[in-house]
Amino acid sequence: MKKLILDLDTGIDDTLAISYALGSPEVELIGIAGTYGNVQLAQGLRNDLAITDLLGHPEIKAYPGLTHASTKDSFSVQKVSAFIHGENGIGDVTIPDSKRSPETEPAVDFIIDAVKTYGKDLTYVPTGPMTNIAAALRKAPEIAQQIGRIVLMGGALTVCGNVSPWSEANISQDPDAANELFRSGAPVTMIGLDVTLQTLLTYRQTGRWRELGTTAGAFLADMTDFYIKAYETTAPKLGGCGLHDPLAVGVAVDPTLVTTLPMNMKVDVEGPTRGRTIGDNDRLNDPVKTMQVAVGVDVDRFLHEFMTRITALAAAAQ
Ligand code: RIB
Ligand code: CA
Repeated sequence: MKKLILDLDTGIDDTLAISYALGSPEVELIGIAGTYGNVQLAQGLRNDLAITDLLGHPEIKAYPGLTHASTKDSFSVQKVSAFIHGENGIGDVTIPDSKRSPETEPAVDFIIDAVKTYGKDLTYVPTGPMTNIAAALRKAPEIAQQIGRIVLMGGALTVCGNVSPWSEANISQDPDAANELFRSGAPVTMIGLDVTLQTLLTYRQTGRWRELGTTAGAFLADMTDFYIKAYETTAPKLGGCGLHDPLAVGVAVDPTLVTTLPMNMKVDVEGPTRGRTIGDNDRLNDPVKTMQVAVGVDVDRFLHEFMTRITALAAAAQ
């Protein structure tokens, strides 16, 4: 069975990504690497453990990643992140703390060890900044060739960014790390705003989770309604919230959900377009293209899979 690592800044759509993974019998979630972004690292790890408990999976471990980009000394949560995800990252919904603690092994070592153990059977899905995987590649560059696949949520190729006209949030947190990953030669599929802003969830669907009558269903519905409400302010024309992070998990489980362009990509790290994800002119004529960039998505099929898997998980949990 395919092994999965999620690397999360947990976050509402990160929580939906955990739910999708736990609701997918085709994959085994072997651990969560924590990162910063929607929330501070410590809050994200707290959320990971509390959420996996609530969803009936207390066996899932969470590993502490790096607390900030390597080019910075620290990280502060931006006001817009708290507006979209809540002060606690999960829509300001209160759920019990886990009795468990994060692991002592750093996420970077956990990722490297997992590649050594599972090789091509391992898929790694980062849905926050690329800081941890860049550090892992610096420590053990050979993992670029040994890993099965990296399916990341981040970037934008054919549409504008969401933090600036050229940059998407996960890439913009640490453009240098993303550039290291893009140019590493690792097999990467980029699930960017090109496709994630086509997969939208509405109150009608979250209502189905609430009707289950379970604590997990009520939590997912209340949390996601907070996110949909934020989208009514930040992107009123969309008519729902973007399922960014769960789409990356969906593609890790079933790559046929998207159509992709084979490309060698880079991230601009200098000048006014810092954070832009674009084709790498220096590698334009390389016969081997190491990245696949999603430019189309089977929206109906993904939404069906998303609702089926997460509804069943929430029904079976407490
Ligand atoms: O741009 C969307 C991404 O930024 C998602 O991963 C969301 O959780 C935030 O991290
Ligand atoms: Ca995220």
